[in-house]
Amino acid sequence: MKILVTGGLGYIGSHTVVELQNEGYDVVIIDNLQNSSIEVLEGVTKITGVKPLFEELDLRDKSKVHTFFKKHRDITGVIHFAASKAVGESVEQPLHYYENNINTLVYVLQELSKLEEQNFIFSSSCTVYGQADELPIDENAPIKLAASPYGNTKQIGEEIIKDACKVDADLNAIALRYFNPIGAHSSACIGELPLGVPQNLVPFITQSAIGLRGELQVFGNDYPTPDGTCIRDYIHVVDLAKAHVVALQRLLTKKNLTNYETFNLGTGKGSSVLEVIQSFEKVSNQKLNYKIADRRAGDVISAYADTTKANTILGWKTELTLEDAMSSAWKWEQNIRK
Ligand code: NAD
Ligand code: WQD
Repeated sequence: MKILVTGGLGYIGSHTVVELQNEGYDVVIIDNLQNSSIEVLEGVTKITGVKPLFEELDLRDKSKVHTFFKKHRDITGVIHFAASKAVGESVEQPLHYYENNINTLVYVLQELSKLEEQNFIFSSSCTVYGQADELPIDENAPIKLAASPYGNTKQIGEEIIKDACKVDADLNAIALRYFNPIGAHSSACIGELPLGVPQNLVPFITQSAIGLRGELQVFGNDYPTPDGTCIRDYIHVVDLAKAHVVALQRLLTKKNLTNYETFNLGTGKGSSVLEVIQSFEKVSNQKLNYKIADRRAGDVISAYADTTKANTILGWKTELTLEDAMSSAWKWEQNIRK
């Protein structure tokens, strides 16, 4: 069975390609390399022993998307990761974000509607919940006014898919709302490759520890949480990748399926910034250089998932711990700086 993975050379996409190949799927990747490198293809091949098909293609080019799908009529499922994802950048370049995250989604869905098998998985985000009124957050929690154009593209993206499913009973789609993906494959052949100064906590920690960055700033320790720092649900990227395979299997078997569904993907457990630092210090056996700084604008105080729906309907649960994730992120960082 041939599965298209858009953005398949990116962070979450590459780990998902590995898990798909491990389960015997044939994978074709589309990526324009705007936030990834061609070496990732070698990393994936090293792990699985099978080189996935790869087409360097920009999904903003509608005619090229059309030509691609004409060539690959035997695709039985699409996992759509390709998007721009930097929250701050999206505030500065909103039109780029709407073009890259919305236009590309529409083009892919338009082509998908011409195929015999219309199975679609969308990368959504816990950002759609904003600061939720109740914790843990389940899928029925209200969608809050988006705090950034990036967040808005995830909300609009979900609405577009839902509307498309309403009028096309053959289209089956799942939107997966990721909490905070971290870590790397245990082989250290693939992992997260942020461009420039990392905005996210874990890549900043590992780059700081390896000497690429100065001290980590902990953004605020006066929040109403047990240790005063913000709380997130950090999920190992390999657990996250595996969830895509089971979501795909649900679409392919169509058992008790409603044609548009959403699932939270998290561990169900919140960890504070200081707990993440402690976990890193434990697995790396070294002290991290950090200081408490001002709050970062736009941060929610606390977000962690109620994962009951994914646990029961997808039959999926996380297997790896925060320490596993921190240890794999550290191994990856050390491997790429050799
Ligand atoms: P990433 O940037 O590592 O991967 C995205 C990939 O898509 C990159 O390889 C990039 O080159 C490619 N791409 C972007 N625009 C493209 C285009 N027009 N045509 C072809 N390829 C294109 O990001 P990631 O962390 O792997 O995230 C994957 C998806 O998950 C994104 O949709 C992101 O918004 C979503 N998501 C990520 C997180 C996170 O914290 N990493 C959290 C929630 C949701
Ligand atoms: C985690 C915690 C920071 C860096 C972002 C996006 C969200 C989603 C995931 C895609 C927070 C603190 C961070 C640092 C720090 N992506 N921190 N010092 O903010 O939960 O979410 O990525 O959909 O949309 O907004 O993740 O990793 O940036 O921050 O203290 O140098 O670490 O304040 O509490 P966040 P993050």
